[in-house]
Amino acid sequence: MGNFERGVSVKRPNETMIVLVAVFVGSVFGFLIGVSFPKLSLTKLNITSSLICNFSNVANEIRRNSSQIGGDAMTPPIESANNSHQMQNMTDLLKIWVPSNPRGAETLPPGIVASESDFFPRRLSGKPNEDLTHIPKYLVTFTVGYDQKNNIDAAVKKFSDNFTILLFHYDGKTSEWDEFEWSKRAIHVSAYKQTKWWYAKRFLHPSIVAPYEYIFIWDEDLGVEHFDAEEYIKLVKKHGLEISQPGLDPSRGLTWQLTKRREDSEVHKETTEKPGWCRDPHLPPCAAFVEIMAPVFTRDAWRCIWHMIQNDLVHGWGIDFGLQKCVEPAHEKIGVVDAQWIVHLSVPSLGNQGESENGQAAWRGVRERCKREWSTFQRRMENAEKAYYKEKGIDPSNITKP
Ligand SMILES: *[C@@H]1O[C@H](CO)[C@@H](O)[C@H](O)[C@H]1NC(C)=O
Ligand SMILES: *[C@@H]1O[C@H](CO)[C@@H](O)[C@H](O)[C@H]1NC(C)=O
Ligand SMILES: *[C@@H]1O[C@H](CO)[C@@H](O)[C@H](O)[C@H]1NC(C)=O
Ligand SMILES: *[C@@H]1O[C@H](CO)[C@@H](O)[C@H](O)[C@H]1NC(C)=O
Ligand SMILES: *[C@@H]1O[C@H](CO)[C@@H](O)[C@H](O)[C@H]1NC(C)=O
Ligand SMILES: *[C@@H]1O[C@H](CO)[C@@H](O)[C@H](O)[C@H]1NC(C)=O
Ligand SMILES: *[C@@H]1O[C@H](CO)[C@@H](O)[C@H](O)[C@H]1NC(C)=O
Repeated sequence: MGNFERGVSVKRPNETMIVLVAVFVGSVFGFLIGVSFPKLSLTKLNITSSLICNFSNVANEIRRNSSQIGGDAMTPPIESANNSHQMQNMTDLLKIWVPSNPRGAETLPPGIVASESDFFPRRLSGKPNEDLTHIPKYLVTFTVGYDQKNNIDAAVKKFSDNFTILLFHYDGKTSEWDEFEWSKRAIHVSAYKQTKWWYAKRFLHPSIVAPYEYIFIWDEDLGVEHFDAEEYIKLVKKHGLEISQPGLDPSRGLTWQLTKRREDSEVHKETTEKPGWCRDPHLPPCAAFVEIMAPVFTRDAWRCIWHMIQNDLVHGWGIDFGLQKCVEPAHEKIGVVDAQWIVHLSVPSLGNQGESENGQAAWRGVRERCKREWSTFQRRMENAEKAYYKEKGIDPSNITKP
């Protein structure tokens, strides 16, 4: 900064002088008035101070104007031989580089950086700050085919207008949904025959969904008769659940004990499984676990989980076992809400799509891929952890868990 100031005064000596002379003359003028008309001394003070004040304003303005010009590489060199060096220094000084900005945006002044977004629709005219009359606090997404429209209609009605509704269409049908009144305020994303986790990875980036306190990423085949979203959120807040799901009606075939709805509690976080299934009672599938069909995440948990989702493992099998790596302590912050529960209707939707196109072999193919993805995900996670510990020089086999 020192060089910078010096450069300015070197280049504009005359203007500075003019200002000083003017201030001096003004003061003398005021003084003379004071001397000549002693009775007006109060006025004198007023005039003098306002004069000085105005002059120093002008001086500041000139200095400011000069520095603007000084920063401009177009100004011709005036005096010293190393002026161009100084000029270079000044240009460097005006170069913006903010390491704390998002990666790739370091050259922007932080005040203009908008690193997060949302799904709030806006108007085409009027004042932008008056666009949003109501700001939803939560997000719910359903991955849907038009065949399930009645089920989705029933589900959407369980979510208040505090929710943004986002539909991922895997069958290419979107405008058909306009028969429902809520469809026009929903966001529709259409990509042919993709899975929930494929959409989630691509359209639910943590910085896009950042305004939403809770994010529901749900399948289309869920019965919601005994579910209300606002009540659900009250319960997950009360019990401090970062990752959760509604309990599943036990009258339908269930895979896991943990996600089974209990009648005697609001929320539960652990269970016992078949002998040998849980090497640790605080780990999946005995605790710290929800299934992938109807998970609910806080925005912080989702920021972590989004990063864990693999771009090529589109069915999401195995992610449920990895969720616990994103919250701490997982067995307390992951749980099942019993008081608001759902029914897993088990409509093989995307599987059906495969079937209708290629016959039963394709449907089996989907199933097989799901299982293969599960073991691939597991292997990747293990390898990533091993690589991390190796780099840190830690031998995890020496550290026995309690
Ligand atoms: C300055 O002038 C204002 C009226 O313009 C007067 O009220 C105030 O008392 C004066 N102040 C001094 C210090 O003379
Ligand atoms: C000082 O500047 C203000 C406006 O910035 C003006 O209203 C006022 O008359 C000026 N005073 C003198 C003494 O020039
Ligand atoms: C400083 O620049 C502004 C415009 O950038 C101009 O309006 C103003 O008169 C200038 N002041 C002086 C003292 O040159
Ligand atoms: C700048 O130029 C002057 C002579 O014009 C010289 O004495 C001085 O060493 C130079 N400074 C630098 C940093 O080059
Ligand atoms: C430019 O700035 C650097 C440090 O910021 C200083 O060492 C160097 O002397 C400056 N050069 C000129 C010509 O002012
Ligand atoms: C939406 O959220 C606000 C604030 O939490 C709450 O007062 C209101 O009741 C909610 N709306 C509905 C329909 O539940
Ligand atoms: C870890 O255990 C291996 C043998 O299993 C031993 O050779 C090694 O020194 C141990 N490392 C530490 C840090 O205790």
